[in-house]
Amino acid sequence: MTFSFPPAIKRRFWGQVFESPVMLASGTAGFGHELLDLNCLSGVGAVVSKAVTFKPRAGNPPPRLFETSFGLLNSIGLANPGVHHVLQHILPIAADLPCPLLINVAGESVSEFADVVRILESSSVHLGYEINVSCPNVAEGGAAFGVDPDVVFRVAQGVSNATDRPFSVKLTPNGGDIVQSAEAAVQGGASAITVCNTFLGMHIDWRTGRSVIKRRVAGYTSPALLPLVVAKVWQVSNAISVPVISSGGVSCGEDVLQLLAAGADMVQVGTRLMRRPFAAAELMDEMKKLTGE
Ligand code: SIN
Repeated sequence: MTFSFPPAIKRRFWGQVFESPVMLASGTAGFGHELLDLNCLSGVGAVVSKAVTFKPRAGNPPPRLFETSFGLLNSIGLANPGVHHVLQHILPIAADLPCPLLINVAGESVSEFADVVRILESSSVHLGYEINVSCPNVAEGGAAFGVDPDVVFRVAQGVSNATDRPFSVKLTPNGGDIVQSAEAAVQGGASAITVCNTFLGMHIDWRTGRSVIKRRVAGYTSPALLPLVVAKVWQVSNAISVPVISSGGVSCGEDVLQLLAAGADMVQVGTRLMRRPFAAAELMDEMKKLTGE
């Protein structure tokens, strides 16, 4: 891969031209159509859906969200209506999106990822997939898969056999060696690597000694994580031959440009959307002013 500096805002990714490098991160934008209704998809290069599993999941018991003084803890537990509902009732609405959709897929077993993908293959609405082997908030699968390169390889290989569409594997920063897991995903057939899922975090009420989150430890997102994500993007992009999608730490256009300069091909924004639903358009304006592109 060759890089130019300052990095170009217009990107070529998975054989397509994207006017914006900004993707909406999984779990922060539904399936995209919710934001379309609010008219805030301007500047969005692509939407990544909330995770989809084979069976419907109610998710973890509340409280499962907590805003810290500098970020957000989440412990949603992959709540979603299940793949059959998504296929029949959600994807037909998401067909109106003005940008590509990636479906985030999660599973409790190695075979579930490919099973979900096979079912989704009958839809032509989405461009590809993001395979989530990194959720920190579930007992089965999740990050326990992502830290084991052998499991990552088998999950990616199963998905690769189930689809001709491109897919990214979203890895965990919590434990294991993210570079080894990325290499294993690429060997298994991944067309990109998403770096990375949330960092483990916790907030304890000192009055009670209890975590404010029911499941206790949660996933943490914050602008403060930017240097950690930049380092991981740099390490992974220097080790693999497929594109890297960064996820985490973005709060301004400078941050997106820095992640592109570190080796990301596309850049996800998530937590910022909670306060600024028009974040993608704002980031694009800032980047255009900074680079003159
Ligand atoms: C969740 O649903 O708990 C978050 C999803 C994730 O971190 O992958």
